[in-house]
Amino acid sequence: MDSKEKKRNAARASLEFIEPGTVLGIGTGSTVNELIGMLPGIRDRIDKLVSSSKASTELLQQHGFEVSTLNEVGDIDLYIDGADEANKRLHLIKGGGGALTREKVLAGAARRFVCIVDESKLVGLLGSFPVPIEVLPMAQTFVSHKLVRLRAQPIWREGFVTDNGNHILDVHKLNISNPLEMETRLNQIPGILTVGIFAHRPADILLIADSNGVREMRA
Ligand code: 5RP
Repeated sequence: MDSKEKKRNAARASLEFIEPGTVLGIGTGSTVNELIGMLPGIRDRIDKLVSSSKASTELLQQHGFEVSTLNEVGDIDLYIDGADEANKRLHLIKGGGGALTREKVLAGAARRFVCIVDESKLVGLLGSFPVPIEVLPMAQTFVSHKLVRLRAQPIWREGFVTDNGNHILDVHKLNISNPLEMETRLNQIPGILTVGIFAHRPADILLIADSNGVREMRA
């Protein structure tokens, strides 16, 4: 079974969490794209939809959905999104697609966060995947110097501009033995808009697809 098929299975498994009348938040990425393709089949269960990126919004609209803003809906019942890495405490690294800021906002606004991944994303220790950090362009060098002082290696994702008009630093070699502490610490650096460590707002449920099916982990 290839990784696309596993992603599709994880996405399919998340459908059962969408109850009638759900205000649904939608993440970004190839796993979520699989989910978006399945949503027309359960259209009657969705009250309103909010999206975490221009890319997901466009795809949802292509499937005939109207996309609301978070300001319009207030709270979200359920947020479904993928991840770049997840540990067994359901702390995540996100932002491989560069949509981490809106993803973190929607996760924070959601009563329940279901994360859908294939087995390759489950790790013992976060940090093999470089941590995406969204920075204000004018603060990029300043933030990079601060990260180097933490013995990390920030690499500018050259040519990429986020939906919010900012830049991404992909941070290698960050010591994330304590994800809560590192997220807090990085959040103190002026110029950082969003850190791609999701530890203070982890997933509530992780759906992990492998060749045998989909298993569920809860925080
Ligand atoms: C986008 C994200 C994605 O959830 C993450 O990159 C996983 O993507 P994929 O489902 O394509 O593996 O955080 O900003």
